[in-house]
Amino acid sequence: MKFFVDTADIEAIRDLHALGVVDGVTTNPSLIMKAGRDIREVTAEICALVDGPVSAETVATDAEGMIAEGRELATIAGNIAIKVPLTWEGLKACKTLSGEGRMVNVTLCFSAAQALLAAKAGASFISPFIGRLDDVNLDGLQLISDIREIYDMHGYETEVLAASIRSVNHMTECAKIGADVATAPPAVIRAMAAHPLTDKGLATFLADWEKTGQKIL
Ligand code: E4P
Repeated sequence: MKFFVDTADIEAIRDLHALGVVDGVTTNPSLIMKAGRDIREVTAEICALVDGPVSAETVATDAEGMIAEGRELATIAGNIAIKVPLTWEGLKACKTLSGEGRMVNVTLCFSAAQALLAAKAGASFISPFIGRLDDVNLDGLQLISDIREIYDMHGYETEVLAASIRSVNHMTECAKIGADVATAPPAVIRAMAAHPLTDKGLATFLADWEKTGQKIL
């Protein structure tokens, strides 16, 4: 499973990139607002740092507008994945942009039916939002599982990009289900390293080592 980082915070991306865990980045208008940066400037910086796909989202609501914005965003760098929403207009834009050989990430997916249409429209990535489904007492992980099954059964090449990830459990479950990619906030990726038994074991080892009076260096 590939790891994308769901942020426009360049320092957080740099930190994770140093560990080699960043296969790509996803941004959205809310994350750009949070970063307080110009979309072109911050996206260009991210693209210069990360080789993998960097999603940049359109904000027009009609297909023509999304296509024009997508083409503009794609001039930022060669690794831009144009993000369009899963609306009828977004699917039309996806069809045109993917037909031009561009990477398209269809976002705000909340059903398997929507995911089927995105695959038919040539999406490179489909982004089902797990956390937001869980927020309304629906089963986000079940949606990932359903889409995986449908895409495998019918041979669709669209990558399942699990989004709106809120927990370490979401990450491990997505990996078990077979999501191609999971995009998570930096804090969730960092939390994956933590385990109380690791901390406890290390404390014991260090205390015992102290008693030996030895030094390695
Ligand atoms: C995905 O591409 C989105 O940017 C993101 O995962 C949304 O997550 P949220 O529901 O935590 O805002």
